Amino acid sequence: MKKFLAGIAVVGVLALALTGCSGGGAGGAAGGAKKIITVGFAQTGSESGWRAANTLSMKSAFSTKNGFKLIFNAADNKPENQIAAVHSFINQGVDAIVIAAVVTTGWDDVLKEAKAAKIPVILEDRTIDASPSLYASWIGDDFTKEGVTAGAWAAKTLGATATNMVVLEGTTGSSPAIDRAKGFSSSIAGTKITTLDSQTGNFTRADGKTVMEGFLQKYGKKINLLFAQNDDMGLGALDAIKAAGETPGTDIQIVSIDGTHDGLTALSTGEFNYVVECNPLLGDKVASVVKDVLAGKAVDKAYTAVDGAFDKAAAIAALPTRKY
Ligand code: AHR
Repeated sequence: MKKFLAGIAVVGVLALALTGCSGGGAGGAAGGAKKIITVGFAQTGSESGWRAANTLSMKSAFSTKNGFKLIFNAADNKPENQIAAVHSFINQGVDAIVIAAVVTTGWDDVLKEAKAAKIPVILEDRTIDASPSLYASWIGDDFTKEGVTAGAWAAKTLGATATNMVVLEGTTGSSPAIDRAKGFSSSIAGTKITTLDSQTGNFTRADGKTVMEGFLQKYGKKINLLFAQNDDMGLGALDAIKAAGETPGTDIQIVSIDGTHDGLTALSTGEFNYVVECNPLLGDKVASVVKDVLAGKAVDKAYTAVDGAFDKAAAIAALPTRKY
């Protein structure tokens, strides 16, 4: 297992390290020293603050200055748009394709097409359910571990008393929604935390607010805990909680995932209670893996960012230098 620090872009309780495991690599156009590398990047959309930071990180890493021509597509979180974008990258004959997959399923055919066209595919951020032989490498965060960490905080803080939880889930069928739910459940198993309801808020503030309004109408003051699978949904829920005459962070404790500037601000003022980090600054590592793959060098099959977690004091300490 290799580890390295992603450098100054990372601020958190724990520094971001990326760890690799198992070899692998696809073929593709070998770039000469001066050859511009054309990369198609199929981004999910622009659903969250995390996503905005990730897009910026990718655009700055895949810059002309760094030897790239980036063809960027944001799929508006529609799987069919994303598959169409990847088809179009193949038709344009790009050198490599990077995908942050909206959902885990439905990838086999288009990835087989890319392989037949000898265009290497690198996964960024999210994982997919496809044979590892169809992509060269994955670079992202450990969503299961994030869920485990968030759930461990909930278990330690509230697990000994009867606690009614509601969950705002991310995009249905996406790897962070699936893995965070799994990780969180494993941590609260055997505690007195009961799930009253769990619905998707699509990783957006607007839907987080709407779904939380519904929870509050249905369960009233029974709710003691909100697990928001990302900061944005938790931030949207704050409006709904205040409008219902309850105090976020006190009447309803909130644990979320991402660690964006806005999420840590809510934590610093006591409206959130705990935030688990998911680092979006993956661009430099993805760009270096793309270059290695195209140069025919062996790359690891997976590079995992090691994330931190924040309580109120850690958020206050981190905020002045937070990069996203
Ligand atoms: O895949 C990472 C997740 O996607 C982030 O937690 C969320 O904010 C984003 O939209």
